[in-house]
Amino acid sequence: MTQTEDFFKHVISHAKEYGFIFPSSEIYDGLSAVYDYGQYGVLLKNNLRNYWWQSMVQMHENIVGIDAAIFMHPTTWKASGHVDAFSDPLIDNKDSKKRYRADVLIEEHIAKIEGKIEKEVEKAAKRFENFDAAMFRNTNARVLEYQQKIDAINARFKAALENNNLAEVKQIILDLEIVCAISGSRNWTDVRQFNLMFHTQLGSVADEASTIYLRPETAQGIFVNFLNVQKTGRMKIPFGIAQTGKAFRNEIVARQFIFRMREFEQMEMQFFVKPGTELTWYEYWKETRLAWHKALGMPPQKYRYHDHIKLAHYANAACDIEFEFPFGFKELEGIHSRTDFDLKAHEQYSGKKLQYFDPELNESYVPYVVETSVGLDRMFLATLSTALQTETLDDGTTRDVLKLHPALAPVKAAIMPLVKKDGLPDKAREIMRTLQFDHYCQYDEKDSIGKRYRRQDAIGTPFCITVDHQTLTDNTVTIRHRDSMQQQRIAIAKLPQTVMEAVSFKKLFV
Ligand code: GAP
Repeated sequence: MTQTEDFFKHVISHAKEYGFIFPSSEIYDGLSAVYDYGQYGVLLKNNLRNYWWQSMVQMHENIVGIDAAIFMHPTTWKASGHVDAFSDPLIDNKDSKKRYRADVLIEEHIAKIEGKIEKEVEKAAKRFENFDAAMFRNTNARVLEYQQKIDAINARFKAALENNNLAEVKQIILDLEIVCAISGSRNWTDVRQFNLMFHTQLGSVADEASTIYLRPETAQGIFVNFLNVQKTGRMKIPFGIAQTGKAFRNEIVARQFIFRMREFEQMEMQFFVKPGTELTWYEYWKETRLAWHKALGMPPQKYRYHDHIKLAHYANAACDIEFEFPFGFKELEGIHSRTDFDLKAHEQYSGKKLQYFDPELNESYVPYVVETSVGLDRMFLATLSTALQTETLDDGTTRDVLKLHPALAPVKAAIMPLVKKDGLPDKAREIMRTLQFDHYCQYDEKDSIGKRYRRQDAIGTPFCITVDHQTLTDNTVTIRHRDSMQQQRIAIAKLPQTVMEAVSFKKLFV
């Protein structure tokens, strides 16, 4: 097992051991690609959602939020294209019976070649002083050869997808000599399309008309409410509608913990703009969203843009913000210029006009849309896996510490009486009450103070506040900082401000 695989296993077991994430219905052996958030997980998830909501809705005068139902009229999904085109190309290995996404097999092959390029660059960087990585990439013969291979595969793959030529997709897999990871064979079935939407019946009559879908994205709830919100909110273009909520996809390749789930949560914003200005807004949101991620303090080199080769049926520009998860760079957020596809399609299928009267132009038009769409569970995984660190301390022992941004930490402060007697617990609870109206706090009097610190480190609590005998005489406590483990004596009266300043979202916006 590689170091990164070990680390990823450590993240998963830490998440379970400390009440962040449990496999769904675990007593029945779990349900594939479905997870439950535990007592600390739900707090971290709420904090991530709040950070998104505050930055999108609270901090933008021209963005409002809604909460649309998960079930929608089935025609919604016909209009959006999901009934006909929301599918993944799947392929089975006949020997192992394992099912794969054909596009993922090809992308993983490309990633391997990219890995070879990185190795060449790293080797050269060790060899040469004043190494210029960009120049090396442009001039080194081996690197150029690898890059040409990647370009050729991408071009062929793009053409195959654009022409919906599934036989060619299979041929690419055969030509690249891609083997099944389990059987090691190249004994592949043909590639077929597989629709990812879950469906169920509404009411008791099981006929075609009552088939409804679990929404595969939250975006359509925004499009069908476009006029309701525009009119009742007197919104002027450009404006946005934001929403967070559950989405459901019957993923073929459901793995990598909470990275790819069958039930997950999205945080989406549709920004309605004047036709012709969409690409400017697209660039704006690309930059703004990356800055939002980086403000959380995770290493900037863990992010990169990935422009889409194959545009979705609704887009005229699209990119992903990728994050370096423990298993490599993968999509964290999508930014899509969705044109007027969705509103026009809903106009056509509903027979209702979905237009905006522009008072400046004195004319009506169907707005264009730029969408930002980030998976909350993927944000959770990115945050958790980057924050989790194992440190060796001066005395040779180790500690697992979650170095979360304090604004995201599930518990903001743990209040601990040094001993369970002499009135210290009462004093500690008194302090707890002054803080818990504003922050989620925890009272802990069990075990030695060292063990209590470790427990709080493992869940990312930024402050441990210890009440000792001196507290009873001078109203001071020790406050221990999670990352530096430094302790300082401060007046109880200063605690609310100290904690508030550290955990406020405000710091993330300046
Ligand atoms: N409305 C556009 C849309 O849904 P998407 O790229 O399919 O676009 C947006 O999804 C985001 O939702 C992704 O960037 C990812 O963070 C998250 N996401 C998508 N499928 C997911 C899954 N199966 N499990 C967890 N998150 C997922």
